[in-house]
Amino acid sequence: MADQSKYYITGAFILGATLAILYQHRNFSWFPENANSDQLLKQQQKLISRFSKIDDLDTLKKSLAEIDQTLKRGCGSIKEGIEGCIGDTPLIKIKSLSEATGCEILAKAEFLNGAGNSPKDRVALSIIETAEERGLLVPHSGDTVYEGTVGSTGISLAAICRARGYKAHICMPNDMAIEKSDLLLKLGAEVERVRPAPIVDQNQFVNLARERAKEHTENPDKLGRGLFADQFETEANWRAHFTGTGPEIYEQTGGFVDAFVSGAGTGGTISGVALFLKSKLPDLKVVLADPPGSGLFNKVKYGVMFDPKEREGTRRRHQVDTIVEGIGINRVTHNFEVGRELVDDAIRVADDQAIGMARWLVENDGIFVGSSSAVNCVAATKLARQLGPGHRIVTLLCDSGARHLSKFWANKSVGGAENDVSLDKLLDS
Ligand SMILES: Cc1ncc(COP(=O)(O)O)c(C=O)c1O
Repeated sequence: MADQSKYYITGAFILGATLAILYQHRNFSWFPENANSDQLLKQQQKLISRFSKIDDLDTLKKSLAEIDQTLKRGCGSIKEGIEGCIGDTPLIKIKSLSEATGCEILAKAEFLNGAGNSPKDRVALSIIETAEERGLLVPHSGDTVYEGTVGSTGISLAAICRARGYKAHICMPNDMAIEKSDLLLKLGAEVERVRPAPIVDQNQFVNLARERAKEHTENPDKLGRGLFADQFETEANWRAHFTGTGPEIYEQTGGFVDAFVSGAGTGGTISGVALFLKSKLPDLKVVLADPPGSGLFNKVKYGVMFDPKEREGTRRRHQVDTIVEGIGINRVTHNFEVGRELVDDAIRVADDQAIGMARWLVENDGIFVGSSSAVNCVAATKLARQLGPGHRIVTLLCDSGARHLSKFWANKSVGGAENDVSLDKLLDS
């Protein structure tokens, strides 16, 4: 047996025995009141990573003794329900895009939020907790949360409502990917898929959700009250990113970040993150990634809300003329307005570029994401080219491609089997 493997086996044996003893004594008072579990976990991870580099037995034994000490002080990492799995998402270096641009392109893996698997988990939890604090929601009373959403916020609300003893009623446009409404039904939400309509129409999905909440509250035959979640206008939205996503990015990058890139649907993410990060890093560049048909690009660049696709007779579909779901809008919402002054620039991303990027990420990095994440990555890569090598850019991976199989990923030109996408070609298309 090689000398080195002897060390590892001996090491593993000692570590195993230590863990077994610790486990048997887990009920004794080894956990001081003020133990900071995050710090301890980090210390343990550092020691464990050192373990793989050790090639003499004495050092190995010393390291194991140190691990033993931190394990003794540790207080575990058990999450409090599904809500406990929201936030603290990993920041991933997208290797292919970083190598191709000479910049570090980092993406916050928001699809790993544990309840509804998107950044909207943070917002839904914030909305529900705020309403609970104000006495507007009482568990198991029949209280129902109503929301108008293209899907993600609804899915997060539906999951968290179940966990907290509420019902969810979701109004969404009927041209969104069908798997989103299927998932909502499986989560026990009531779903109304409605014809896409402009915001002035009373049957527009957001207006309808507001009306349904009012009808519920006014109906004496219905149990509990209706609460309109109001993600586009509520303060709870941007605040969730101001207190969560922003500080996490700051901590994960050690404060070394040159630019933040994000699409905007309600605008809560870009505003909340910009407000936090710019308070710490005034030179940070905040850039909006915008799909075709959205008026936000022109709002940021020129102060007017207008897209050429809005011209009479040119619009193919409805409010935002794109295959992309979740970002792009043609009205200014409170959540976008809160941080608009901090958005320095905007990058337009064509549908074909988003489709090409989604495919590139699968083929080069094994990352399978939805349309808004692909838009973010195109914009981050374009920005990297503008800034030049040596910069660090942070963006978001919002949701999984599994949410978009029947629409965005159903597109014929989106494959995944062959490595035939050129980054230059997709950025210049
Ligand atoms: C998948 C996805 N990505 C991004 C966003 C945009 O986030 P925000 O509403 O914070 O602007 C949304 C909004 O619903 C979304 O559903």
